[in-house]
Amino acid sequence: MRNSSLLAITVTLLVTSVASGAAEDNSKQPVAAKAIGQLGHEMRKKLTESLHKNGPAGAIDVCAKDAPAISNRIENELGVTIKRTSLQVRNPQNSPDAAELQLLGVLAAAHSAGEKLPQGVTVFPHNTRRFYKVIMMEQTCLKCHGDSTTMSEVVRKELATLYPEDKAVGYKEGDFRGIISATVK
Ligand code: HEC
Repeated sequence: MRNSSLLAITVTLLVTSVASGAAEDNSKQPVAAKAIGQLGHEMRKKLTESLHKNGPAGAIDVCAKDAPAISNRIENELGVTIKRTSLQVRNPQNSPDAAELQLLGVLAAAHSAGEKLPQGVTVFPHNTRRFYKVIMMEQTCLKCHGDSTTMSEVVRKELATLYPEDKAVGYKEGDFRGIISATVK
């Protein structure tokens, strides 16, 4: 696909089918954006602080315990169900549902084809109550999601104990990691 965008075509097709019949309803976007922003912001803050204070092995708890706790709080406060998901999950509880799986496939293909992925909080195809934000891999993430052969021994052992089915390794900086997915009630 030289002059056309795989992502644009797919999104256009999906949006067209949503829009046919009714005007697109974007009224839930602000609350979803707030929830996604809060989870992203709080996770980043806690992770940076904990990495600085306790190192990567100590910071594993931030991802393991704080992420679900923050998600629960946001759900109670804002009425938005929120999770982080990926095609390669560390924790099977974060596995994508059918709609997330389909969307992740489209985004992964677009990224592989060299497309720029949506930056902001974007509506799901076919569902005006569901929104997502793309997560990309950064340098600091690689301490726990990078090449397992060069990872710190302590981290590797801890992850192997906690997550025997871990698929979330082997990433490089700039890789497509997954999405924060939000569903407005
Ligand atoms: C200190 C180690 C550590 C660092 C650093 C880290 N993660 Fe994680 N990550 C984890 C752990 C542990 C889990 C599993 C959490 C759980 O049990 O739900 C996880 C889960 C995730 C998930 C949920 C999907 C899944 O695989 O279960 C995403 C998305 C994610 N991490 C993205 C990132 C990004 C992006 C960064 C960098 C900004 C990052 N992580 C940095 C340890 C880490």
